[in-house]
Amino acid sequence: MTVPKYRELAEAIRAEIARAPVGSPTTSERQLAEDTGVSRMTARRAIDELVREGLLTREVGRGTFVARPVVSVPLQLTSFTEDMLARGYTPSSTVLHAGLVPADENVASIFRLDPGADVMLLTRLRLADGVPIAIERSHIRARLFPGIEDIDFAHESLYRVLIEDYGVRFEAGEQVIRAAIARTADADTLDIAHGSPVLELVRTSVSHGEVIEWTTSTYPGSRFELSARIAPVT
Ligand code: GLP
Repeated sequence: MTVPKYRELAEAIRAEIARAPVGSPTTSERQLAEDTGVSRMTARRAIDELVREGLLTREVGRGTFVARPVVSVPLQLTSFTEDMLARGYTPSSTVLHAGLVPADENVASIFRLDPGADVMLLTRLRLADGVPIAIERSHIRARLFPGIEDIDFAHESLYRVLIEDYGVRFEAGEQVIRAAIARTADADTLDIAHGSPVLELVRTSVSHGEVIEWTTSTYPGSRFELSARIAPVT
């Protein structure tokens, strides 16, 4: 079976997109047709296909641009670092806040601590290939992990530190997923329009029978999706 010409062209552009920075303009339809010797109709179909796949965005009157990645991750007890590496992205983080804070009523009840007890609050902007993917606010049971508040989480995976340096064995987790509207400050940090929809993932994870982490991750709806394996009811 022969591959249609526009598909071949789309493949070639796809390879270029993979190397191009997010937001950079792509060759115009006319230029593409001239450069490759195909008709403008074929060039348009190739570009249309990539727009449909979400690899390019079209802006009326301006042209097409390399789109921000939509990161798709499975629903499981893995870390942001692992999820991004497994999908071929380079993860990085900016620490927005790190330090001990007194547990309020809600946090205290989640961790079964007395209100006012020390917990660590770690707030990070998480990026994939330099593109903001999430803001994560993690509360950690600090008492079990002495010195954790001094670790530089701009260059560390929280789960790696917990597992390798503190002997954590994740044995259970619960994840609540809900839709929300980005808070204004979060929208600015994530570089999305005010009022944009976000997905909030709230994870509670347990090691040695105790809740050790309670994290709310806020993902732009336009850059992130979750997938889960579903099995028939037995
Ligand atoms: C995921 C989870 C969070 C967890 C984080 C740890 O994003 N939803 O609950 O805190 O991974 O990520 P890392 O180990 O990369 O710091």
